[in-house]
Amino acid sequence: MKMDLSIIGKNILKDLKAVGVEAERLGYQAYFVGGVVRDVLLGRPSSDWDIVVEGQAIELAKALAAFYKSRLTVYESFGTATLTWPNGFVVDFAMARREYYPHPGSLPIVTSGSIKEDLFRRDFTINALAVVLNPQCFGELQDFYGGYDDLKKKKLRVMHEKSFLDDPTRILRAIRFESRLDFHLEVKTLRVLKAALAKDAPATVKPPRYFAEFRKIFSERHPVACLKRLADLNGLEFIFPGFKPDWTILSRVEKVVRKLKKNKSYFSKNWSGVFLLAFFARMRAQQVASFAKHFHLTKKEVFSLSGLGEVPALIKKLQLPGLRRSDIYEILDPVDLEIIYFIRTLTSVNMVTRRVDDFLKKSRLASLRITGEDLKDLGLKPGREMGALLHTLLMHKINGKIKNYQGEKALASQLVFQYQRG
Ligand code: CTP
Repeated sequence: MKMDLSIIGKNILKDLKAVGVEAERLGYQAYFVGGVVRDVLLGRPSSDWDIVVEGQAIELAKALAAFYKSRLTVYESFGTATLTWPNGFVVDFAMARREYYPHPGSLPIVTSGSIKEDLFRRDFTINALAVVLNPQCFGELQDFYGGYDDLKKKKLRVMHEKSFLDDPTRILRAIRFESRLDFHLEVKTLRVLKAALAKDAPATVKPPRYFAEFRKIFSERHPVACLKRLADLNGLEFIFPGFKPDWTILSRVEKVVRKLKKNKSYFSKNWSGVFLLAFFARMRAQQVASFAKHFHLTKKEVFSLSGLGEVPALIKKLQLPGLRRSDIYEILDPVDLEIIYFIRTLTSVNMVTRRVDDFLKKSRLASLRITGEDLKDLGLKPGREMGALLHTLLMHKINGKIKNYQGEKALASQLVFQYQRG
């Protein structure tokens, strides 16, 4: 079947055709594969372009890089290369490969193979589709395993029964795809997924690797639905046996995030860090350290999580009457930003949301035009006093007492004068 590739756009199509022409010249077969084929067929945007080559993938990428004067990064030990076209289009090249898992949960042993074998090693039939790039059959869909039919029926089906045991991170992928694409797990697939969880398959994967896949849930559109599905399947036990998140907090956060996403000031915010906080909201401070070590959480995540304990006190402080903008700034400025966003989504107290919004949108972004050089000109020596004076000026600016450079300078000279008189 010839695919309708118009959704890809003319520019990318041109580059893909060039890949096919060059592959043909070298006597190779090239295909684009995996998630991007699925997404193109579903009419969804996709940016991860994976090209599989029956032949020397690195040679093909090198030839294209030389011809199109493109940036190339070669990973010899993996037999892969990443090419960045001058128009910014990024493509990963890999040779078609066969894989086998020496034991469940391990990384696979890889040897070269055909496109059919390459597709067979993949997780779900809908991700085991390829599209020919060579000129004669450009755009032809290669569907060896019924992926197109499953796609139409919105079914997630594993390629073989051992798939979740070979690679238990696929359990998490299944949950994400189900929610993201609004698909459902085919009966047998659901059975083998449950069986893999009953066997505690996730424990065969190195914890940081499993958590890295788990973390992706927080970037999905509906993280709470994914997490609930996983919990229903007993898939949260890897955190620690009996772990239960606070669903009320999670649902509230998701509801508020959905609203905030429509707000221009929050448009570009990545909310995954906030969902992480909501998920672990009930975790005690002592647990965070050992948990962080076990799953290799990032420094940033550990820092955010360690701030959870202060959230109730912060919410209380933010309700104090008569706070000036500068007071709110002093309260929130030392606090981790994700914690502030978390507070914004967690509380329904109007005064707190208003004050947090004001801090995030205005006070936090306030800056002075005046510099240390100006203060030196006024006779102040660099040092702690200068830092303190700049801070005082900033607080006045945040409170609206000074508006522009002139105002900053006038107030600065007044403060320097007072300081010098002791
Ligand atoms: N794949 C797999 N098993 C995994 C991870 C990936 O079989 N555990 C295969 C799938 O064929 C997948 C392809 O590798 O389509 C690329 O993986 P990835 O970049 O993670 O892609 P997507 O399927 O596009 O997922 P996402 O949209 O979340 O990036």
